[in-house]
Amino acid sequence: MDFRADEKDSYPINPSPLMTILRLFSKLLPGNYLKTLFYLNLIEKPRRLLRLSLTTFYRMDHIYAVLKEFKHHYKGNFSILEFGTSDGYAFTKMLYATKYLNMADRVIVHTFDSFKGMPSPADEKDQDLIANDSWVEGQFRGRYEELEEYCSNHYKNYQIHKGYFNETLTEGLLSSFKTHLPILVWIDCDYYSSARTVFEKLIFCLPNGCVIYFDEYEQFNFGSRFTGEARLVYEINHGLFGDDIELVLDSNLSLNTKRIYRFIRCKSPIQYEKLSRDSWTTQVHKRTNDSPLP
Ligand SMILES: C[S@@+](CC[C@H](N)C(=O)[O-])C[C@H]1O[C@@H](n2cnc3c(N)ncnc32)[C@H](O)[C@@H]1O
Repeated sequence: MDFRADEKDSYPINPSPLMTILRLFSKLLPGNYLKTLFYLNLIEKPRRLLRLSLTTFYRMDHIYAVLKEFKHHYKGNFSILEFGTSDGYAFTKMLYATKYLNMADRVIVHTFDSFKGMPSPADEKDQDLIANDSWVEGQFRGRYEELEEYCSNHYKNYQIHKGYFNETLTEGLLSSFKTHLPILVWIDCDYYSSARTVFEKLIFCLPNGCVIYFDEYEQFNFGSRFTGEARLVYEINHGLFGDDIELVLDSNLSLNTKRIYRFIRCKSPIQYEKLSRDSWTTQVHKRTNDSPLP
């Protein structure tokens, strides 16, 4: 193919409207300083703020989304399990969500914590790899008595389990999840080792489709599969508790993170009961018109 010399040396021009506007302002504005000032403050910053305001994950959203899903589509009673209570910031918000959505009679919210603060790291997978800035023993120590008093004055559908996870996840409690199927497991105990203890006890009590939320997933070592909750997800999906168990990323709930999964165990005996068959599973599309509109 024949090219003229100037054609050979040029790149194809990016035809996006943004680039057209940028080229125009670049011609109008004199000097590198003004061009840069204009770009950073009137283009880059508003574009970033707009992007963030639409897509940033906010961990309160999925509490309501999950409760609504189970309220409208499934029969029975449920539980929400939070591991890592501290002062109860998220816990009382979850309790209020059950009240707001008129589900307090169907959902028990459990929270688990030693109320002694973070234990010492028990595994090298608990280590911060970026700046060795790990949690310190005793950090996030909660106020058990105050929390219990506040909750008893405002709510009925809760249980606060004081102690280490391996002690408080008793056989009796685990069997109560047969009648109150877990719908949301909220992992906020920061360490890989603590989260792993939870799953060692809980995994065979989880129904298919149960939502698992990892509060720290990509906030710890950028979600590296070598450490933290990301490590646990990686291990579970590589057969830690059997080849028939998978945590599937729920991108509708996770948005721009990798924090929310659905529990799936092939041939699991534990399933939710639907209220009725959803209309979209029973309806066939009748022909309407041939345009893209329905
Ligand atoms: C980040 S805080 C929880 C924050 C809380 N969810 C909130 O909404 O503010 C982590 C908590 O996990 C608890 N924790 C960590 N490992 C634990 C374990 N193995 N057993 C019991 N509690 C544990 C610590 O005591 C600490 O209070």
